[in-house]
Amino acid sequence: MTEQEVQRKLSELAKRRGFFVPSNEVYGGTAGFYTFGPRGSTVKRNIEDIWRDRFKLKEGNEEIEAPTVMPEDVFEASGHLETFDDMIVKCPECETSSRADHIVEDNTGIEEAESFSKDRIEELFEEHELKCPECGAELAGEKVDDFNLMFSTNIGPGDSSPGYLRPETAQGIFVEFNRWKQYARNKLPFGVTQIGKAYRNEISPRNQIVRVRELTQAELEMFIDPLENEPDLEKVEDVELTLYSRDEQNKEEGEIIETTVAEAVEEEIIESKWIAYYLGLAKRWYQRIGVDMDRFRYRQHLEDELSHYASDCWDAESEVDGDWIEITGFGYRGCYDLKKHQEHSGEDFTIFKEYDEPRTEKKAVVDPDMGWLGPKYGDHASEIVEELERMASNQPEVFNEKADLRIKIGDKKFTVPVDKTGFEIKEVEKNGKRILPEIVEPSFGVDRIFYTVLAHSYDEDEIDGEERTVMRLEPDVAPVEVAVFPLMDKDGLGERAEEIHKNLREAGFSTTYDNSGAIGRRYRRQDEVGTPYCVTVDHQTLEDGTLTVRDRDSTEQKRINQDRVDKVIAQLVTGERGFEDL
Ligand code: GLY
Repeated sequence: MTEQEVQRKLSELAKRRGFFVPSNEVYGGTAGFYTFGPRGSTVKRNIEDIWRDRFKLKEGNEEIEAPTVMPEDVFEASGHLETFDDMIVKCPECETSSRADHIVEDNTGIEEAESFSKDRIEELFEEHELKCPECGAELAGEKVDDFNLMFSTNIGPGDSSPGYLRPETAQGIFVEFNRWKQYARNKLPFGVTQIGKAYRNEISPRNQIVRVRELTQAELEMFIDPLENEPDLEKVEDVELTLYSRDEQNKEEGEIIETTVAEAVEEEIIESKWIAYYLGLAKRWYQRIGVDMDRFRYRQHLEDELSHYASDCWDAESEVDGDWIEITGFGYRGCYDLKKHQEHSGEDFTIFKEYDEPRTEKKAVVDPDMGWLGPKYGDHASEIVEELERMASNQPEVFNEKADLRIKIGDKKFTVPVDKTGFEIKEVEKNGKRILPEIVEPSFGVDRIFYTVLAHSYDEDEIDGEERTVMRLEPDVAPVEVAVFPLMDKDGLGERAEEIHKNLREAGFSTTYDNSGAIGRRYRRQDEVGTPYCVTVDHQTLEDGTLTVRDRDSTEQKRINQDRVDKVIAQLVTGERGFEDL
């Protein structure tokens, strides 16, 4: 089966069984928006819960929920207004706007064209005689422009207060940093997580729910002191990583590196220990939720591909529908965001780091001779003093290098002999210092992870000469944990099965009840949903209180006592017991 066939079949199954459907189809559909059906929304929620368990609870981080609409100031500061752009080209014939770098990638075999300049893309249009994907008109000579991906709106009536739908959940964490630092009692490192919607007005949404205009992110912003805080690397040092580093990508015949977290750090393939830590932790997590590790890798961003705020970034990529897609970005944002919000808001975003014991530190100070400075420079004297203070703290060496300091304030120039500045290096006692934390950000794209899990779980096999489609989902990712059937709906079997179903539901399992059609058909329906276990009540149940439990993957059945069904299903779903051990 080709990847395209799998994609088509998965898309049909997604609609048939209620995983996801294109939104607003009764009005012609809205490209880039999907509605998650009963099965899909449960799978998505299960993935979010397992993420929360790993990256919030087990890591000791906090979770917040910020608004999805934010004022313009936020994005002026964050740089999104100026730089959160994709390259767009408008067809001269049909006027369809398309993503310029995707036209290059789709028709030339060139990868990562996103990292090219607009001029380079225009050249490639000419060199490869590229055409409009909609009508086939020539694009050579057409201008490539920037298109900002944020959805704009107005906050309140009128247009005096512009706002934007957030393009990432992260900004809601950054702008409230001063609260989080108080809750963390000013102690680094600490992490703040958020799972929520983000919006990107994609030029050409495509590939089912891979490139959408409304998406769910699960983000962790880890605030660290890079000089003092280290992650617990031991916890993940043996995790094996498949890495496609920037260096390898830049080679003619670049290779994938198979290594461990510890080696990748030692050999400096991954520069930041924090990023290496999260790659290890996340690899286990992807395995845990059912991502196929033969179709998974970490790829480092090329220099030109990095977002405006990141100094390094590794993407987790999965292979679906024949392409590698980014499912998570592990970015090193440094102090970019807090610095920008500090500058734009005027708030102090630093943390006071107390020393274990007071330290004596050297400090360069000035005590200018006002008896000389006042008469000489009059009204400018106080500005000169401020400038001397700034120079003492930023460039103390100049006070030793020169006899006369030249000072420029606006377009005026002044000369001050060093012996009139009162410059000296003093010893001062300090209890701590103010630092601007740096940020490491694992940012998970939940929709793409959801799609990867579905695509990697999709399977077809043959049971008793009959073909079946089966979603081999992990039991706690599957939308239904256990389905209950009466073998037939007569002789009191239905009533008994309904009672068992009700009890399982009350016990907290996600369940379904099905009494319609042949039993084989009912099993097939559950296989397509990914239900790991089916419980069937038959005539023997009425005689001796036993029922059958059927395993989705092997299709084997075993008889157990009805009274133990909730305990057994709990053991199977949590993996405490294997089906073969029943
Ligand atoms: N916060 C990272 C991103 O949205 O890509």
